Amino acid sequence: MYTKITESHLRHFSSIVGEDRCSTAQETLQDYSHDETEDLQYAPEAVLFPTKTSEVSAILQYCSSEGIAITPVGARTGLSGGMLTVYGGVALSTSKMNAILKIDTDNLQVITQPGVIVEELQRAVAEKGLLYAPDPASRGTCYIGGNLAENSGGPRAVKYGVTKDWVLNLEVVLPSGEIIQTGANTLKNSTGYNLTQLMVGSEGTLGVITQATLKLMPQPAQRLLMLVSFPSAKDACKTVSAIFKAGVVPSALEFMERAAIELAMSFTGEQPIDLTDDTEAQLLIEVDGNESADLMKECEVIMTVCESLGAGEILFAEDEAQKDKLWFLRRRVGEAVKAVSIYKEEDTVVPRFKLPELLAGIKEIGKNYGFNSVCYGHAGDGNLHVNILKEELDENAWNQMLPNAIREIFELTVSLEGTLSGEHGIGWVQKEYMDVAYSEIALNLMWQTKQVFDPKLILNPGKVFPSHYWNGNT
Ligand code: LAC
Ligand code: ZN
Repeated sequence: MYTKITESHLRHFSSIVGEDRCSTAQETLQDYSHDETEDLQYAPEAVLFPTKTSEVSAILQYCSSEGIAITPVGARTGLSGGMLTVYGGVALSTSKMNAILKIDTDNLQVITQPGVIVEELQRAVAEKGLLYAPDPASRGTCYIGGNLAENSGGPRAVKYGVTKDWVLNLEVVLPSGEIIQTGANTLKNSTGYNLTQLMVGSEGTLGVITQATLKLMPQPAQRLLMLVSFPSAKDACKTVSAIFKAGVVPSALEFMERAAIELAMSFTGEQPIDLTDDTEAQLLIEVDGNESADLMKECEVIMTVCESLGAGEILFAEDEAQKDKLWFLRRRVGEAVKAVSIYKEEDTVVPRFKLPELLAGIKEIGKNYGFNSVCYGHAGDGNLHVNILKEELDENAWNQMLPNAIREIFELTVSLEGTLSGEHGIGWVQKEYMDVAYSEIALNLMWQTKQVFDPKLILNPGKVFPSHYWNGNT
């Protein structure tokens, strides 16, 4: 289906990026064969490390004319297999395009290349008193380019929005090699179709983002963090929408069921809190702002709501060190689950009032199919990460059960007015379920859009759309 890479192709790639930035070394191919999605591995035939937009353009133009599959790759922290080179071909690494080009303190904007680590970007703008809010759990390693491609979220999305809400303008290289600007460096833009937002979350299937202009805001002066234990996970979930209804918008509102907390504690060796026997779930709640009196008032409202819904112990983080410990624990849940069992992770999202029904429904599905699950996530967004555990289930039973169980989970999610993924993307592992979220008409419209951008289907092939699209049976 795609042209295999030959010596002659490699010579051409080397002439574009330089010999030392065109690798076919076994070790490199192995490194680029996986992200953080389960244990999936698909090795590329070559990994290219361009340093500038003109090189990305020349590479794409050449792959288009030769019919070579090419997949943009960031830091390989993704959780939906968006960077897996399932058809081989080129893995186009953005790791050498890692400069922050300009921090514009006059307009509160930053212009960056895609290979910058998100936390480094946050630190650089924080030095100027500014905030770039999206903060996925992997922020210490993930790239801004990957965040743009997947429309990543993280805990602070509940108040400040996800990646898309921070993007003003993008430089994109199309599969043809042509270079476009998708918008302007303005806060407002009613000029034509919104190509910027079409590109964000398109999972590297429409073009390669080579530069981004992002919005910033002043850093809030203070943050307060509390951890609230609940004897009932359902009541913890109910509390989430009640907090907003009481007039408070926390800067983070995270849910962890008991198993998630226990796993993270034993994985990290950190036990910043006593987990009482009757705790079934916890909410980690942060408020931020500039006036401590306002924040204290918000915390009082939150405490009243929590208590009215049966909360047990409420712990206030005393200092920055304790806040860091609590966040450290929360951010390690995903890795902790991975360490104990083969698993399958879903990224369900519903309107937040429906969260209790989603959680109860997932547990019910688990009972019917015979699996345990660990649920946690960005409850304020109605975004629940569901880790289905294999544990002692035998291989056959696991493989047979999974697609049906996942479909049921997604059907439940959509029946609650939600959808398949809140922040991890569809990528490789969720694509067969797209029909649960979209009508054929809507999905065909997306497919036609893909073909307009990428008529030869060379860019990140195999992703987002169900297999029958890729096999020519639309
Ligand atoms: C988290 C990642 C898995 O929220 O999205 O920890
Ligand atoms: Zn998350």
